[in-house]
Amino acid sequence: MITQMSQPFTVHLLPAHLQPSELTGAVAVVIDLLRASTTITTALSAGARQVLPCGDVESARHRAKDLPAENVLLGGERGGVLIDGFDLDNSPPAYSPELVSGKTIVFTTTNGTAAIERVAAAARVLIGCFANLNALLSVLIRDGRPVRLVCAGTAGEISLEDVLCAGAIATGLWQSLGKPEVADDQTVLAMTLYQAAAENRETYLHMLRNSRGGRNLQRLGLGSDILFAARWDQTTVVPEYDQTTAALHVPVERQPEPETHLNPLSID
Ligand code: MLT
Repeated sequence: MITQMSQPFTVHLLPAHLQPSELTGAVAVVIDLLRASTTITTALSAGARQVLPCGDVESARHRAKDLPAENVLLGGERGGVLIDGFDLDNSPPAYSPELVSGKTIVFTTTNGTAAIERVAAAARVLIGCFANLNALLSVLIRDGRPVRLVCAGTAGEISLEDVLCAGAIATGLWQSLGKPEVADDQTVLAMTLYQAAAENRETYLHMLRNSRGGRNLQRLGLGSDILFAARWDQTTVVPEYDQTTAALHVPVERQPEPETHLNPLSID
């Protein structure tokens, strides 16, 4: 007999694999490890006031125009590189405190920001990556509502790096719930992938480098961003989407105490 999980969680290998009805009353976590999730988390961790996700370049330009120029930066990518006229590309370390502190980042990427728009109707929308993994687990466990781990993918194709990170989050939840039976194959698949990767640092990094997003970044000479995104628990910031302002921000009152739910892999 399959027992009911006290806090159901499911992995969705692509945003299209999630039915709109599955968002009702749920916490959606958007995972675009390479690199939108990692970049948004890094920007807010570096003191950015908010990140405004936009589905396309034109709407990003329009949204930025409506804001005081001295407080706004345009960030993101198309084809993995800087968009003409933008201030920042999608490289997480570019979002340094010196550049982004106090700023509003109007942000558009090929897949990540579209995935955020797609799940915006969930009860709560959070951003997940390895950089905030244990902090995210704290927030999810404390929230207690069903969790939908939504992999952004790449142009409608599954991206291994997103599935690997979703598998780590799912494994952390599964352990915290006392290892209940998991009866959903997308979730089992992601957890199995993570558990294979977690055997050692080399396997983990090899998987990330050979993932769809990893291969693409290496082709562009941006391999160092893979290593940046591979590092666990760089921050306790868990970006949250505010439906009223259509902005990602850090809800001060909800940031968790540092706690380790899943033992991090040492990457340095
Ligand atoms: C995306 O949203 O598709 C990614 O973040 C792509 C990238 O980082 O180049």
